[in-house]
Amino acid sequence: MSTFAPNMSTPSAIELWKRFHWAFFVNTQGLLMALSRFERFVETEDFEGARREMAAAATLMRASGASMQLAGSFTRQEYKDQVRPSMMPPELEVAGFSGLMSWDHASLIELWRRLSPIFASLPDVLKHEYEDFVAAYGTLADSHSAVCSRFVAKGEGSIRYEGDEAIESLSRFRKGREAMIAPQGRVSGCPAHGAPATHRDEADDDIES
Ligand code: HEM
Repeated sequence: MSTFAPNMSTPSAIELWKRFHWAFFVNTQGLLMALSRFERFVETEDFEGARREMAAAATLMRASGASMQLAGSFTRQEYKDQVRPSMMPPELEVAGFSGLMSWDHASLIELWRRLSPIFASLPDVLKHEYEDFVAAYGTLADSHSAVCSRFVAKGEGSIRYEGDEAIESLSRFRKGREAMIAPQGRVSGCPAHGAPATHRDEADDDIES
């Protein structure tokens, strides 16, 4: 009789990076499905269905943030020596690699743009789930900044925009995305998850998607 013996060896930095990126993109695809269904339910005024999908979207957003943090669970030296070079020529055919190049992510941003007027006029019955969804985006953005500052020093750029400070660039992206999902500015946040959801100062619609 054969026995199941899982491979318990510690994954390399590259393996962690790749595997948790897969998890991240599965969550992105889940977000696309949940928010597309949310849009349909709002249009047909099925607010129970809309509430369910919005709650699922908040969970998937938090899972995306966790995937990001896990994708970066190795040392700065390993990032510098192994992981960053794997995203650049000659390892890649193209230069300027970025998360912005993902089709799934681009579709999600397109959907957020389309949903923006809907988010601005949601009925009160969806308020709780909506505010939690916006707060969940905050945790995703925090995770992105955390993983970036773990590997890239203050003042250094991303692979795509070497001349810009990566951490500052992420905070500009955050503002632009928050302007899409919370077009009316500050929302109060979910008491169960604490943090205030967003703090939009000005719309930054110039962000590339
Ligand atoms: C841990 C896995 C990571 C994933 C899954 C990921 C994913 C993404 C995604 C989806 C975007 C587009 C953001 C948006 O449109 O709002 C993006 C952009 C960006 N990410 Fe990440 N990212 C990761 C790690 C990092 C790290 C370590 C840095 C540090 C340099 C970083 C810095 C940036 C910056 C500065 C941008 C803006 C565009 C650019 O300069 O390429 N990210 N990333």
